[in-house]
Amino acid sequence: MKENLTWHFGAVSSAVRESLLKQRPVTLWLTGLSASGKSSIAYALEKLLLEKGKCSFVLDGDNLRHHLNSDLGFTAADRKENIRRTAEVAHLMNEAGLIVITALISPLCSDRQMAREIIGAQRFLEVYVNASAAVCESRDPKGLYVKARRGEISEFTGISAPYEVPDNPEFEVDSESDPVGLVAEKLYQHLAGQYFPK
Ligand SMILES: Nc1ncnc2c1ncn2[C@@H]1O[C@H](COP(=O)(O)OP(=O)(O)O)[C@@H](O)[C@H]1O
Ligand SMILES: [Mg+2]
Repeated sequence: MKENLTWHFGAVSSAVRESLLKQRPVTLWLTGLSASGKSSIAYALEKLLLEKGKCSFVLDGDNLRHHLNSDLGFTAADRKENIRRTAEVAHLMNEAGLIVITALISPLCSDRQMAREIIGAQRFLEVYVNASAAVCESRDPKGLYVKARRGEISEFTGISAPYEVPDNPEFEVDSESDPVGLVAEKLYQHLAGQYFPK
């Protein structure tokens, strides 16, 4: 099939989009245990960006599983496909000029590396949302840890499936002691310094 396909180049460059939107596109790839605070931080940062006139959109793992990824489960293969599709969407949104914030556990280094390659290393910021397993389990806002301990959820990250801590993330945020608003503010300040041309 591919041999009969030709890439059709558009007439609008990324530089034109950047000057129109007054922002350089980037993806903040939030990774961390369930209940570490990825979604809370992602939506707080999105709100902050919009309030400052910046165009941003959250790709939340749980939300995507209601629609685009509703056919996928939690096996390693399905998690990989979940991440591949999300990264492809993030890439398209970056091409459109948006600042993308993803919130997926994305437990494996190899899958996050795949996301980095799909999105492009220059536009990819890995953000480790660090809260200990004990704290995440004590928060348990969705009651998932209780269910996983009862054996009602198979392949639950941190209990019956692995989480590989990022080796060298562009950012690490302390979501145990820093409140959500402060974490979002710190990430915003970083973006403001590097991604908002005058
Ligand atoms: N410092 C913090 N950072 C992020 N979340 C926090 C923090 N302190 C408490 N929380 C709470 O922890 C829970 C994290 O849930 P959520 O954002 O859904 O995590 P995840 O998307 O990583 O599963 C929320 O109930 C949130 O209010
Ligand atoms: Mg979440």
